[in-house]
Amino acid sequence: MPAIITGWGNCVPPAVATNHDLAQIMDTSDEWIVERTGISERHVSHVGSGELGVVAAQRALAAAGREPNDVDALIFASVSPELLVPSTASLVQKRMGIKDVAAMDLNVGCSGFVYGLAVANGLITSGVCQCVLLIASERLTWYLDWTLRDTAVLFGDGSGAVVMEAGGDDEGVLWAEMGNDGAAADALMVPNFGTSMDRIRHDMLDITVQFDGREIFRRAVKGMTQSGLSVLSHAGYSIDDVQLMIPHQANRRIIDAAGHKLGIDPERVYVNVDRFGNTSAASIPIALAEAMEHKRINAGDLVLFTAFGAGLSRGAALLRWGPRAEPLGVSDAELPPCDATGLEIIRRHAEPMQARAAARAAS
Ligand code: UT7
Repeated sequence: MPAIITGWGNCVPPAVATNHDLAQIMDTSDEWIVERTGISERHVSHVGSGELGVVAAQRALAAAGREPNDVDALIFASVSPELLVPSTASLVQKRMGIKDVAAMDLNVGCSGFVYGLAVANGLITSGVCQCVLLIASERLTWYLDWTLRDTAVLFGDGSGAVVMEAGGDDEGVLWAEMGNDGAAADALMVPNFGTSMDRIRHDMLDITVQFDGREIFRRAVKGMTQSGLSVLSHAGYSIDDVQLMIPHQANRRIIDAAGHKLGIDPERVYVNVDRFGNTSAASIPIALAEAMEHKRINAGDLVLFTAFGAGLSRGAALLRWGPRAEPLGVSDAELPPCDATGLEIIRRHAEPMQARAAARAAS
């Protein structure tokens, strides 16, 4: 039987940086960011992506009425792992006290959650697993070069998680599609982090996200539309049958353009990019947990997820929600307290970068 989502949760760090905050440390404005992206603020994490993911996972398990030891596979989708070795999935497994089961990281950029859904569904439909915990979690503000206004204003931190288990007839993941255009892999990169770096000469302050914004914009609209239409047609449905579409939240203009091309009424498209920015793999499950809280999804609803990101990856999944849209329980898991504001956390990263940029300009 296809897998249904039986538990959902998210965890966003408490510190927030508004566009006005960013305008204090770089040459930008609230007007520009809102007009070009729809983003007003983003959350800034004081902890690693694994810690964010643990809290989201505990909330998802409580909603499913499951214990950590019910989990028989753990997937951690992220482009901002806590460490490269071991996998952040294994760190999360240890922190949550999950027994010896499969645990893996999935690095597919912003499409990580949709890929994770497809992998989890495959593990469940094949009978290999009964209960898969899928976490998507990012601390992207750690990666950013705060001297580059064209990328720094776009991203934010947060995590979301779902528990997946076998459903009944005509429930769960009806179709999922994954694609990746490796020929365009260099259109969106963190080029200076990994084993191709010159270890002797590398300066960790040089790490940054690089992309061709207009090219990604064009490809994101096309890729999300193509994947969305493809899963609908394979599953034998039309866009009019979909009660809620949850697209990857990169830019309000990308979401609107993809929704328009798919022909879906904007009221049936979930948007929260204004409050979180682009949280990469985490954006869809953060939105999903909010949509559940606001009762935007009911038992039996058709839900369409569409994503696009580094790789260049794309994907979509069409899911018929299972019989329960209410959480079975609520977790009291919380992050450690944070005594800094979003701007203060960003300044800690930004000040050495800005000092170095000024020294370079002077020399
Ligand atoms: O999950 C996938 C990850 N990738 C993305 O989300 C990126 C997708 N692309 C986009 O969202 C958009 O292409 C951007 C938001 C990155 C840029 O929007 P745009 O409408 O394509 O603007 P642009 O790149 O054409 O830049 C227009 C102007 C430029 O100034 P000039 O050359 O016209 O004088 C930029 O220097 O806006 C300037 N600019 C800014 N101004 C104020 C760029 N960033 C900023 C900024 N504040 N933060």
